[in-house]
Amino acid sequence: MPGRLATRYAPSFRLIEAHFGFGLVGLVAFSAALLVRATAVQGFFFQPLLLGLVHLCVLGWLMPIAIGALHQLVPVVFEVPVRSERLAWSAFGLYAVTAPLFIIRMWTLSADWLLAVGAVGAAGAIWLYVLNLYATLLRSGQRSLTGYYVMAALGWLLVAVTLGALLAINLDRPFLPLFHLALLRAHAHAAAFGFFGLLIMGVAYRLMEMFLLSHGAPERAGRVAFAATNAAVVALVVSLAFGSIAWLLALGVGAALVGVGAFALQVSAIYRRRTQRRADVAWRHTASSLVYLGLAAALGAALALAPLGQPWTDRLHLVYSLFALVGFIGSIVVGQLYKIVPFLVWLHRFSAYVGLKRVPPAGELLGERWKRVQYALMHAGIGALALGVVVDSAALRSLGATAFAGSAALVVRNLVVVWASKP
Ligand code: HEM
Repeated sequence: MPGRLATRYAPSFRLIEAHFGFGLVGLVAFSAALLVRATAVQGFFFQPLLLGLVHLCVLGWLMPIAIGALHQLVPVVFEVPVRSERLAWSAFGLYAVTAPLFIIRMWTLSADWLLAVGAVGAAGAIWLYVLNLYATLLRSGQRSLTGYYVMAALGWLLVAVTLGALLAINLDRPFLPLFHLALLRAHAHAAAFGFFGLLIMGVAYRLMEMFLLSHGAPERAGRVAFAATNAAVVALVVSLAFGSIAWLLALGVGAALVGVGAFALQVSAIYRRRTQRRADVAWRHTASSLVYLGLAAALGAALALAPLGQPWTDRLHLVYSLFALVGFIGSIVVGQLYKIVPFLVWLHRFSAYVGLKRVPPAGELLGERWKRVQYALMHAGIGALALGVVVDSAALRSLGATAFAGSAALVVRNLVVVWASKP
């Protein structure tokens, strides 16, 4: 089955290496910043430290890896070369300069022209990526459920980063006709649920079929998840942007719960038909990410519909962001890296020797032991961080951040071992 991932349409290994490498540096920077500032992670979500940490996490770690994976998967799954690899490299160059600038300015909330330049530059780079991927997808005659998920996710990414850039300019020179904090929440949900949520759902179906050798699962639940999740994001973004229109917010929350439930049904339909029975650490990360998605959906619903009062509203808001960004998105990103990176290294370094000498399968380029330790540290870290926020214990937050930093170091160690392996 790995052969199916390796067609002549795949872009240069260098392009994927550059994005995954950038993302891993971002993971190290995020986990180090969290470790240093864990005791201060508390209170209302709108504060420089949290704005900085959120964007270091999403723009430093998660986004570059998602973009890199998209440039590998879209050409291969839809059997059409990337529209322009040069444009992808130009976008990478612009992103590598402006995203760190934006994150640093956000960290100190220096609401000036440099923040706006960083934000507009990073948003501009993402526009280039998305237009290049759309041009690639539209050249492919193939239409599939995963394709529609990817196209919808990319659309929400454009909405999210454009709103983000406008918010950054608004901080420097207020001009937006709507309430800043309301638009901020709309931006966050378009990005996290619209882009990352739909992308992970759509790609998860295809990766599970490929790596679990699963065929023939009916797609009904997947189509319901697609419609309900998109309806949820529309309702949430519009409602939040206009200051939380209660009936529309409730509709959005309801649709989101239907979307998440239908996604879980589709995943279990694919899982039940698997012929690859060995559940390795990569799949445990994927299963954990589903649990975090369920927890985040339940917390989001409670925060939107129930008046919890302080300090619980602030605390559960932070746990909601932690479970959504680090738990749901972070776990599946790590889990899929443990699948994609060994396969790409096998393809580009080992496949030429097949039949000439003994070549280990991709799955043997990295043992399970250090992956298991990494898995345990990551989820223990997230759990301790969440508990440390709920009971307001700085010591627990530091403990959680230490375990998470240890797991981040092991992710890098494990992937470097694979990347450095030679036939
Ligand atoms: C080019 C990309 C992006 C830009 C320019 C951007 C810009 C911004 C700005 C200006 C704010 C409000 C800050 C303020 O009012 O002080 C913000 C808040 C936020 N953004 Fe982004 N953003 C981007 C990407 C993302 C992505 C991809 C995600 C999530 C997946 C995200 C999640 C959030 C969250 C959760 C907040 C609220 C954080 C808090 O208040 O603690 N952003 N963003």
